[in-house]
Amino acid sequence: MWPTAELHVHIEGTLEVPLLLTLAQRNDIALPSHDAAVLRARYEFSCLQDFLDVYYDNLAVLVHERDFADLALAYLQRAATAGVRRAEIFFDPQSHTSRGVAMGTVVRGLSRGIEQARELYGIDGALILCFLRHLGGDAAVATLREALPLREHFIGVGLDSSEVGFPPSLFREAFEIAAAEGLHRVAHAGEEGGPDYVWEALDVLGVERIDHGNRALEDAELMAVLRHRQIPLTVCPLSNVALRTASADLAEHPLPVMLDEGLLVSVHSDDPAYFGGYVDDNVAALRSAGVVSEATAGRLAANAVMSSFLDGDAKARLLDEVRAYGAARGIELLAPASAR
Ligand code: HPA
Ligand code: ZN
Repeated sequence: MWPTAELHVHIEGTLEVPLLLTLAQRNDIALPSHDAAVLRARYEFSCLQDFLDVYYDNLAVLVHERDFADLALAYLQRAATAGVRRAEIFFDPQSHTSRGVAMGTVVRGLSRGIEQARELYGIDGALILCFLRHLGGDAAVATLREALPLREHFIGVGLDSSEVGFPPSLFREAFEIAAAEGLHRVAHAGEEGGPDYVWEALDVLGVERIDHGNRALEDAELMAVLRHRQIPLTVCPLSNVALRTASADLAEHPLPVMLDEGLLVSVHSDDPAYFGGYVDDNVAALRSAGVVSEATAGRLAANAVMSSFLDGDAKARLLDEVRAYGAARGIELLAPASAR
């Protein structure tokens, strides 16, 4: 497995059915069914909203700090087996605070799971607080203010949930506060929304990475900016197929076009419990669909590391690890586009 960085994973989307059932029992929460096969059968989606409805429903089982710690630990244990050395993990605090769970319970619980995973598996985790765009800009500001006393537990802010109808510009103020706090900024854009959403994320929110960004391909001027500035795009192929946001068939996925266009793209899992797999599964699926070669898989791993928020030394060390992995297999990695 190529050593890599996971930059686009929603911790709530890593809630696998066995843990869902364990937590439901532990917290005495009723689910639509307590049969794993029936629960899994709900994971058929025709668009982003279809998925989000099930995703938010299942979160009812997360109640106590320990539940959040268990969720993060389970994810990081699995991610470590996928070659992930660094995980920058999204969480959706509003999906919990809106149910009466305290902000501190969510943040401290996830943070505890990350610390446990560091000790147990040597994996480096960090949290990115995402605003739910369907709740609007004022709620985002209030959420950030509520979370700032816990500032040491997260490295950045992001923007997720239902995209169309909730453009990035609604969140200008929250992102301005985040910038003033020295937080990193990312946003989902161009998943279902058009290239205009990507423009706004860059120009209005000042984001450092775009999550998904597939629809940027429709706008040549935007492509030129993304290429020139080497703005990372965190692409999630199995998610795109499951939600039909890029191509119905993985073999038709635009990833090779994005690479050919000189964009700084990398591959991630999004919501692995729902979309059919973790980073390794995404790469394996791309390999078996004939979309990428092994050398390109290495390039994608190096791009992920380049796109991470690791500091310079840690990034260089992890890039060396990726190159050494390739060299041991006779694969010499080209320098990442931004270093060329
Ligand atoms: N897109 C938008 N919001 C999300 C997603 C996604 O794929 N997963 C969890 N929240
Ligand atoms: Zn996502």
